[in-house]
Amino acid sequence: MQYRHLGKAGVKLSELSLGAWVTYGHQFGLEQAKQIMTAAFDTGVNFFDNAEAYANGQAEDIMGQALKELGWPRKDYLVSTKVFWGGDGPNDRGLSYKHIIEGVNNALKRLQLDYVDLVFAHRPDPETPIEETVFAFNQVIREGKAFYWGTSEWSAAAIMRATDFARRNNLRPPSMEQPQYNLFARQRFEEEYAPLYKELGYGTTTYSPLYTGLLTGKYNDGIPEGSRASLKDFGWMKDRVQDEQKLAITRKLAEVAEDLGITMAQMSLAWILKNPHVSSVITGASNVSQVEENMKAVAIKEKLTSEEMDRIQSIIKDIKE
Ligand SMILES: NC(=O)c1ccc[n+]([C@@H]2O[C@H](COP(=O)([O-])OP(=O)(O)OC[C@H]3O[C@@H](n4cnc5c(N)ncnc54)[C@H](OP(=O)(O)O)[C@@H]3O)[C@@H](O)[C@H]2O)c1
Repeated sequence: MQYRHLGKAGVKLSELSLGAWVTYGHQFGLEQAKQIMTAAFDTGVNFFDNAEAYANGQAEDIMGQALKELGWPRKDYLVSTKVFWGGDGPNDRGLSYKHIIEGVNNALKRLQLDYVDLVFAHRPDPETPIEETVFAFNQVIREGKAFYWGTSEWSAAAIMRATDFARRNNLRPPSMEQPQYNLFARQRFEEEYAPLYKELGYGTTTYSPLYTGLLTGKYNDGIPEGSRASLKDFGWMKDRVQDEQKLAITRKLAEVAEDLGITMAQMSLAWILKNPHVSSVITGASNVSQVEENMKAVAIKEKLTSEEMDRIQSIIKDIKE
């Protein structure tokens, strides 16, 4: 495993990390979570991503209990949560001062932790002044309940506004984004956010590196039983993984992976790791063998020479996001 700074921040994250969306609480419970986290930790993963929204808080319950039972030293791992979707009540969602403070407090209880390392605003909240949101995250950090705060899928303009307000008022500005980034979704990460890397030293923990599984090639011949797109509660993913244009591109990409003697998942992850603006790629896995396969992408990135990167670029260049 290799470790990267979170943008210009001093803290270092494993370049591949592990997230809890869909899997924890939907596909498995405590015992399998422990096995999967152990497989990741044993290869050097030090960052585990979560959110109050995942399985309505159950994902945090499971991860918290797993961390407690695994007993790793707290200094050896980082945990994140994200606040925005905390329930159905009028003040259970969004980025008000009230929901941010309460959302973080509730997440810490579920995770059985004194602090999370990273906390993200899971989406922008157009109904709350950005100043109120900055004040609330500043308070979370002042109280030692999180070390760094950031954004997830905010526009670059909103991030700049939040940063400017924080700096003018001597408050902690956001310092990291959690955006989607993969072979099919590139525009925001590569173009819109370019000034954030240059001017702010913004860090990134990117998500859905395999486009929720499609980039493994597993949907090339239909939807396999037990896969994420076959899950009852995630029917909306069926269309996403049956997009004919993306499947055609995936089949072409599979030829590159085969020539390199690696799997599609490994190639897709390694391609992301080639981008220096990525601090950590948050992977998802429904079993231990996926973790083992995916973590090898760290070594495989050396196989993606500029020639191979050009070959991949010629395949994905016309993708419509
Ligand atoms: N901030 C946000 O808004 C946001 C949004 C989405 C995700 N995230 C974070 O990012 C993390 C990763 O996102 P993601 O889960 O969408 O990642 P992903 O890598 O695109 O998809 C992961 C899923 O693909 C399948 N898979 C993974 N490796 C495989 C392999 N080697 N062979 C076959 N199938 C494989 C598994 O699903 P099956 O085996 O079930 O098919 C796995 O759960 C999440 O857990 C979450 O922490 C954040």
